[in-house]
Amino acid sequence: MKHRALLIVAGLVGAATLAVSLSVAAAGTTSPATRAAASAKSAAIAPPAVPNAAAIRAKYKGQKITFVGDAAVGASHKRDLKLVARFQKDTGIKVNLVPHPSASDASYSQLARAFGSKSSSIDVMMLDVVWPGAFAPYLVNLKPKLGTASKQFAQGIVQNDTIGGKLVAMPWFGDFGILYYRKDLLKKYGISAPPKTWNQLFTQAKKIQDGEQKTNKNFYGFVFQGNSYEGLTCDALEWVASAGGGNFIDNGKVTINNSKAKTILDAMRNQIGKITPRGVTSYDEEGARNVFAAGNAAFMRNWPYAYAANLTTPVKGKYGVTVLPHGAGGHSVGTVGGWQLGVSKFSKHKDASIELVRYLTSPKVQRFDAIFNSNVPTIPSVARDKQVVKTNPYLTPAIANVARVTRPAKYLKTHYNEGSKDIYQGISQILNGTPAGSVLPSVASKLNALIK
Ligand code: GLC
Repeated sequence: MKHRALLIVAGLVGAATLAVSLSVAAAGTTSPATRAAASAKSAAIAPPAVPNAAAIRAKYKGQKITFVGDAAVGASHKRDLKLVARFQKDTGIKVNLVPHPSASDASYSQLARAFGSKSSSIDVMMLDVVWPGAFAPYLVNLKPKLGTASKQFAQGIVQNDTIGGKLVAMPWFGDFGILYYRKDLLKKYGISAPPKTWNQLFTQAKKIQDGEQKTNKNFYGFVFQGNSYEGLTCDALEWVASAGGGNFIDNGKVTINNSKAKTILDAMRNQIGKITPRGVTSYDEEGARNVFAAGNAAFMRNWPYAYAANLTTPVKGKYGVTVLPHGAGGHSVGTVGGWQLGVSKFSKHKDASIELVRYLTSPKVQRFDAIFNSNVPTIPSVARDKQVVKTNPYLTPAIANVARVTRPAKYLKTHYNEGSKDIYQGISQILNGTPAGSVLPSVASKLNALIK
């Protein structure tokens, strides 16, 4: 019963994100000049005031809570610092802000250890979209206090965060994979449009790289998240699904070991050290972004946060975003990512903690986050906000309506982290030189053991 419920709710995440993107379909596109003006404004935007601060202050002033927030991905830690400072000032609740480990799976392990030892050291924490099922037993049911506020969000995401009827987390921001490309370099090399297929990406990347390397030995065609960690599960899901090779586990059956998956994964392996730097097999989000931001890559796969983060770098004004390419016979997709906020059952200050979550997940803060850090809104009205649309070009319909694919959390349930590790370690072996045909059968059998 529990498993069945989880299965149904997790399946809705893709649909939910799509609902948000459809709701912005009427928003239209913006010119680079408008965007530049909007980004100048974004630097100036301030965290909103805490609503009902006096009442909160009267009850909880002086309480101390610890919030495990974002790592140094783009301006996310800066965003948390600003929001927490405002919350402290308005409410008198003291917040100890601790950035989580930057890799999602390392962050999972940190929380699993804290929950396992019933530690009260963490009060509020960020939760990856694939974890609510696994951590539900350790999280406070937020429904009594935040149930009304949760109605503003895309409902599929709220359902993803509702386990066994309990609202164990509140949506914080969404994510989906997109392609960043250098507009100036496409023009310079006579390429009329960014690639639609992976093969086109390989060809365009090679052409630009050959030209640029004449004067810049550090220049490469394509960077992505190739390290052996959760990010690689996300990138590889996009490669495989966009080539018609399924979503690793489909309709309860492990499908990762198929010929389309093999073909695209081998094709990616063949590009390592050619159009990608060798070091791509150790890149996470920021590893890839640093290369792109320094002007040393033509294409990058990343999440929307990189849009705002790159505005303060040498490539400002030179990049565009679009949907990721697809394989032969497939279509473009983007992996669903995103983060939630939860309160630990072992917290000694649950009510004060819930007030922090209420503030951070409010529409005004979500608007602030979307403008300051280009994170994907999960509240449809925020996604339609004019200023938000101006600063987040990935919200234009042609990009935001891309098919979303979800990691197999609904099938792996409490074993999600183990299963994803089997996937990314296998993909990493492939990228490091082993043919997909010798790796995928063993990944498939490990996944089979986990979903039994
Ligand atoms: C982003 C996504 C998250 C994903 C992670 C992988 O943070 O929002 O869902 O697990 O990247 O690196």
